[in-house]
Amino acid sequence: IHEEYQKTAVWLTSHTTHRPQVAIICGSGLGMLADTLKCQDSFAYSEIPGFPQSTVQGHAGRLVFGELKGKTCVCMQGRFHMYEGHSLCKTTFPIRVFKLMGVETLIVTNAAGSLADDLQAGDIMIIKDHVNFPGLVGLNPLCGPNDDKFGPRFPAMSGCYDKGLRSLAMEIAKQLGVASLLQEGVYAMVGGPNFETIAEARLLHRLGVDAVGMSTAPEVVVATHCGLRVFGLSLITNKVVKSYEDTESVNHEGVLEVGRLRSSTVQQLVTELISRMEIN
Ligand code: 6GU
Repeated sequence: IHEEYQKTAVWLTSHTTHRPQVAIICGSGLGMLADTLKCQDSFAYSEIPGFPQSTVQGHAGRLVFGELKGKTCVCMQGRFHMYEGHSLCKTTFPIRVFKLMGVETLIVTNAAGSLADDLQAGDIMIIKDHVNFPGLVGLNPLCGPNDDKFGPRFPAMSGCYDKGLRSLAMEIAKQLGVASLLQEGVYAMVGGPNFETIAEARLLHRLGVDAVGMSTAPEVVVATHCGLRVFGLSLITNKVVKSYEDTESVNHEGVLEVGRLRSSTVQQLVTELISRMEIN
């Protein structure tokens, strides 16, 4: 309910002088960006009233406020996943807190497996659109009474990944000389925590999904509902096994390793994007 978001927002506002314009959710192995913020104020999730707790290895679990390229940011180092057993309201709780604190733009990153033939491990996919599989069957953070203070009962989701930010990111990639690593694509969220079976992977591929992961869609739905501008990118950490002849399989360690390998590139991209984005 509204008062709980309000309570957390008020607590944070009284514990930091930063008034963030941009919120960033750092995915697996991509949390280093938070360490580059200037004049940091950081809070463990465990000390923030009303905040859920993060339980996954490789996800730190703190909120970091600070300045980046002249813009005030708040960074989630570690996010909440549905597979941890959190309700979707809990996983998206921070988004509405950020909204109440004045944030206007949300940047989400995640690690994802590739289904597209032209996306390799180490590539970066700018999210053009998503398929929210849990949402399609009613596992949606917006289920339940609508809070009209945040947004409408039936929010549109077309255009939820801002076109201007997507083209700016592509332009920046060209200037950084990493354009060959980047392309736009469709992200699908599945519930996890297990990775896909081969049959599931083939199904996703045939449905037009380019990359699959276990996060992001609920946060983006809640952000779009309350009018935030959203930019998302997936770091491709592995190819999804789609063939019964294939002998390799994914594991969490490998996912984190590619995250570390490409984290500085992702960091540069996001930093430059924040630097050059226009803020009202
Ligand atoms: Cl292959 N599947 C899912 N669901 N999430 C992932 C992944 C694969 N690789 C990284 N995250």
